[in-house]
Amino acid sequence: MPPDSVIIEPATAEVLDEVLAIEQACFSAPWTRKMLAAELSGNQFAHFLIAKCPDPRSGSLAVAGYFCFWVVFEEVRLMNLAVLAPFRRQGVATRLVCTALRTGLQRGASRAMLEVRASNQEARSLYERLGFRQTATRARYYVNPEEDAVLMEMAPLQVSALCGQPGASVSGNG
Ligand SMILES: CC(C)(COP(=O)(O)OP(=O)(O)OC[C@H]1O[C@@H](n2cnc3c(N)ncnc32)[C@H](O)[C@@H]1OP(=O)(O)O)[C@@H](O)C(=O)NCCC(=O)NCCS
Repeated sequence: MPPDSVIIEPATAEVLDEVLAIEQACFSAPWTRKMLAAELSGNQFAHFLIAKCPDPRSGSLAVAGYFCFWVVFEEVRLMNLAVLAPFRRQGVATRLVCTALRTGLQRGASRAMLEVRASNQEARSLYERLGFRQTATRARYYVNPEEDAVLMEMAPLQVSALCGQPGASVSGNG
């Protein structure tokens, strides 16, 4: 997918149904509509991005993925990231995470952290590629299915060269 055909923008209440559908398609223990809505409008630290991509079937733009992250003072916390299967492996998640890292830097954050299921090699590889390193594990952290969490951090916070030229950051919902 050509890089300029992916549009990253802040989520609004109008796309909540599409984000919920992505969440349910991508996770075994998905966030509920209530949880998503709380992040979208009830959390001063939360930023909520969507990625719109051309849908090859219809030719129109579709919400292909979303990313919720927090900027809490000096720390960027990566919360939930998902891309629909037909749009994967085309750099969409990378674009979302890069936008978050830029936003964090612009807001004065100095490190970033996340938790990921130990078996989620796709996501671990994505984060490693962008500069995150494993720092710890948390035994049986996840449920449905029960699984350990791997903690990953990036300190100092940097925007990987893989992110390309600096683009516009977004203000999120906070
Ligand atoms: C993980 C996920 C968000 C990746 O989205 P994506 O848009 O396909 O990711 P990108 O195209 O930006 O991939 C960037 C890198 O991640 C790694 N990666 C992504 N998918 C991979 C796969 N299926 N196998 C191996 N590595 C993979 C690769 O290093 C890839 O770089 P490359 O394509 O140059 O080899 C997506 O697979 C997804 O939504 N999975 C289900 C939900 C989930 O696990 N979310 C993360 C929770 S922490």
